[in-house]
Amino acid sequence: MCQDFYFKTFILPTHRPDLFAHYLLEFTKEAIEEIDSPPALDYHYFGNTPLAPPSAGFVIYSKESCEALLDHLKGVCCLLGARLQENIGFYHHSSAHPNLDWVQAYQQSVEPLACGQFYITPSWNSQMHGGLIPLVLDPSLAFGTGRHESTRLLLQEISCLEVQGKLSLDVGCGSGILSLALAKKGGIVHVCDTDTQATAQTQANFAHNGLEYARLWEGSIHNAPPNARYDLIMINIIADVIVQMCPDVVKVSKEGSLLLLSGILDAHEGAVLNAYSQDFALVHRAQENEWVCLTLRRHFNS
Ligand SMILES: C[S@@+](CC[C@H](N)C(=O)[O-])C[C@H]1O[C@@H](n2cnc3c(N)ncnc32)[C@H](O)[C@@H]1O
Repeated sequence: MCQDFYFKTFILPTHRPDLFAHYLLEFTKEAIEEIDSPPALDYHYFGNTPLAPPSAGFVIYSKESCEALLDHLKGVCCLLGARLQENIGFYHHSSAHPNLDWVQAYQQSVEPLACGQFYITPSWNSQMHGGLIPLVLDPSLAFGTGRHESTRLLLQEISCLEVQGKLSLDVGCGSGILSLALAKKGGIVHVCDTDTQATAQTQANFAHNGLEYARLWEGSIHNAPPNARYDLIMINIIADVIVQMCPDVVKVSKEGSLLLLSGILDAHEGAVLNAYSQDFALVHRAQENEWVCLTLRRHFNS
């Protein structure tokens, strides 16, 4: 066995591919792929009279060469041919390929990203971007890599804010990316998400970045500490949910609080503005493709 190579063996039966499939599954534990349109290769033929190469077949990916399997298949062909009185044969081709380091190949595919004041980078990238604030984030199941418009718009908004010592709430934290950005700028952050995976990932990402949150809970805005009145609230969830949250947002905000709303498709922007217009005024609007991000300020007289 060679760790540095794997073998690729094409098997193209000229007859009875169903029987070949059965025997291949029976006699090998290697990975088998069914293929249409096999590549043009220098195939060997096994059978009595060569027939035209078929347009479908199988590929076997194995750590060792498939010689024993091919010998076995040849024996099966002879037996079947005799029993069925048919010319049963197959084309075959084997080649050795260097094994890729798949982890390294994947890691190289995840590019760091600059957004506003921030530089979002996976933990395996050691290069920093001069002048930008690094946010170390490895891809995970939680939303919030900085690659979606709704997150990017918020990071750009946060880049323009003075948040040192300000208390903020990140509703639907996902990976925690927005709170990490605020904490990097000296903000005090409360974070929540209804998804356990998101809160776990946020916890891990704060640790990776050597940062601390003031509070983190699994749940939503209505689970915020009863007396908390936030300077800044960020919500990147769909418009319907943002609209429904309005009474809770009013409860946990105060005069002058800033509200950053994202994840809003432009078709639903009116509904969101309408729901919040009684207590908040629009101070900034940004859009990327069909995604809108709204910055609102709580009225002083509400
Ligand atoms: C679009 S992601 C945003 C993630 C991150 N804040 C960002 O901006 O990239 C929305 C997140 O909100 C969470 N979520 C959905 N409905 C929620 C609710 N009612 N309350 C709290 N979190 C919610 C989801 O689990 C998801 O992690």
